[in-house]
Amino acid sequence: MSYNIAIDGPAGAGKSTIAKLAAGKLNFLYVDTGAMYRAMAYYFMTHQIAPEQEELITACCDQIQIQLKYENGSQQIYLNGQNVSSEIRKEEVGKMASVTSAYPAVRRKLTSLQQEIAAAEDIIMDGRDIGTCVLPNAQLKIYLTASVHTRAVRRYQELIEKGIDCELSEIEKDIEDRDYRDMHREISPLKAADDAVVLDSSDLTIEQVTEKIIKLAGAAKITE
Ligand code: DC
Repeated sequence: MSYNIAIDGPAGAGKSTIAKLAAGKLNFLYVDTGAMYRAMAYYFMTHQIAPEQEELITACCDQIQIQLKYENGSQQIYLNGQNVSSEIRKEEVGKMASVTSAYPAVRRKLTSLQQEIAAAEDIIMDGRDIGTCVLPNAQLKIYLTASVHTRAVRRYQELIEKGIDCELSEIEKDIEDRDYRDMHREISPLKAADDAVVLDSSDLTIEQVTEKIIKLAGAAKITE
């Protein structure tokens, strides 16, 4: 049986950085489910579909093929055969994904793909509904969070380092809006699973959080 670790939490809590590091140390595959929602959103955007066109989006889902491939250990995401790993990182794709990920047809498609991957491999999967919906039987569930202010400052520093001019207050507002959408949608809203370990990364370094997860993974394996 494969060993599954679910990491959920709001945008900017450090999930992907930490999940990637922990996966490397445990020799597990890292699966970034946000990238899958972004790839679907990118398809809709490049087909001139507006976020509120749910019927059209639902009808399109069958024409979309999402694949994960690992090149030199890093996850690459393919949309209908095309590598879109860098295109999906744009801010506007994230915004579109936060709207279109609320549609049942989009969630159904990606949930079953994620379950297939997790059944075949030892994985650390991060997202919003992994512990609650996708992998309810995961051996270890983590809910990783941090205050809105901490997450906004981290994002601000990232953008400034890239030479991108931005306002901290606008970033805080964006984060609050995205949290609200992710937590209040009807299907699979973001929340901690009842059996998740809640970690707040506001005052911890990436290494400290990763270390905690490795220890928890060890403990969960022993008590299996
Ligand atoms: O983690 P991210 O920013 O790359 O995710 C993009 C959007 O996709 C985010 O607004 C929430 C959504 N998402 C989701 O609904 N369920 C997941 N398992 C992962 C992401």
